[in-house]
Amino acid sequence: MLELSVCIGSSCHLKGSYNIIQLFQQMIEENALHDKIDFKANFCMKECQGTGVAVSLNGTAHHVQPENAREFFKNTIMPNLKMPKSKNE
Ligand code: FES
Repeated sequence: MLELSVCIGSSCHLKGSYNIIQLFQQMIEENALHDKIDFKANFCMKECQGTGVAVSLNGTAHHVQPENAREFFKNTIMPNLKMPKSKNE
């Protein structure tokens, strides 16, 4: 399971986190990824200084702008889903 969370703290909210959440939800729906991605919203991740909304992917912080969110999903999130699963999963 991939852990994906989007910051909804005030600084990220102003940068468009709501739009990113909407888009990620839509992408998860379109690609039927409900059982592969654990999607959450998070309060401030102490990453406010970055340009863009703080998005955590398996514990690694990224900064995503709403206009690049679709690309981020395709280029950064999707490839992580193709990683071979460990035998214990
Ligand atoms: S408000 Fe998003 S990291 Fe601080």
